[in-house]
Amino acid sequence: MPPDRYRIAAIPGDGVGPEVIAEGRRVLDRAASSYGFEIEWTELPWGSEHYRRHGVMMPSDGMEMVRSHDAIYFGAVGSPDVPDHVAVWGLVLGLRRELDLYVNLRPIKLFPGVPSPIKAAPEDVDIVFVRENTEGEYSRLGGRFRAGLTGETAVENSLFTRVGIERIARYAFDLAKARGGLLTSVTKSNALTHGMVLWDEVVESVATDYPGIRWERMLVDACAYRMVKEPGHFDVMVGSNLFGDILTDLGAALQGSLGLAASANLHPGSALPGLFEPVHGSAPDIAGKGIANPIGAIWSGALMLRHLGEPHAADAVVNAVEAALADGVRTPDLGGGATTASMGDAVLSRLI
Ligand code: NAI
Ligand code: MG
Repeated sequence: MPPDRYRIAAIPGDGVGPEVIAEGRRVLDRAASSYGFEIEWTELPWGSEHYRRHGVMMPSDGMEMVRSHDAIYFGAVGSPDVPDHVAVWGLVLGLRRELDLYVNLRPIKLFPGVPSPIKAAPEDVDIVFVRENTEGEYSRLGGRFRAGLTGETAVENSLFTRVGIERIARYAFDLAKARGGLLTSVTKSNALTHGMVLWDEVVESVATDYPGIRWERMLVDACAYRMVKEPGHFDVMVGSNLFGDILTDLGAALQGSLGLAASANLHPGSALPGLFEPVHGSAPDIAGKGIANPIGAIWSGALMLRHLGEPHAADAVVNAVEAALADGVRTPDLGGGATTASMGDAVLSRLI
């Protein structure tokens, strides 16, 4: 039987994106050859440079191009000279929404030996955040009126649908069942009396299908407080697009650095390609210096391998990351002196 072969669209994007994706690809290629499968890469040079040349972040047939792949491996987007909302919607948010990748899965894990800004042991910080990824506060509904006049007004509407809440809640309950842990539904229904009340009602009704699963509702501000004070309380968290965005950066801080945080964007049960990307942005302050931490990108690559059906290779990559960090190899964001490439080397040399 020929080896499994996966077609991956690589979109390195802007800033540190290409730097960290290069390391991720090296590690994934090695994992593929060790575990007997092949990765066929299609590099798509989309992003701010494409925008400067063509006025758009990706070509008009871009969505079709990525659809024909098994997965998308994404770096980051954003440049100081391109309006941020144009850059971000023109690529990453557009891809997530057009492909209906409604699950944004973000593991928050403190690797042994990595210093956290809070007093926590690795076993205290082991959370999987399930962020709703296609609606909520990031629905792009609203408008700007009376531009430039004193009465200038902007309206930003949030969209919450029963179907949208139900499918993300089901995913989160399934995950809590698989992990055997507590599920926390992040809400703000004391102040947001429409969308968040619907959120609570739908989560509550989905819960009746999962009688053995422990779950709770917690206000988002209380979640932020408790994640710092007592992260060990949490196991699986589910929240809306905005809440998930903010709380997972907080989670990245608990892990020791935004440069470590990984994510998967998925439409479970469909043939749509998932999109795997580090949580961080293009980090223009350190771009081009060769010092960006590639672990978030490498770990996202491991999430991709798991999703493609290569769990042993995925475990091997995560174990290699863990071993490299435990041995003290660290980029400057973690107080070390490693470069992006030497961090990648350290992971590669521990990959078995
Ligand atoms: P950012 O995540 O790029 O950077 C925040 C801080 O974390 C900076 O101090 C940066 O140096 C540091 N950092 C980020 N990644 C790192 C890494 N791999 N290693 C070491 N340090 C790292 O967020 P910021 O500065 O708010 O946004 C910069 C640009 O990125 C903006 O244009 C923004 O819109 C865009 N952005 C794009 C995202 C994406 O493509 N998914 C996500 C977040 C922001
Ligand atoms: Mg974010």
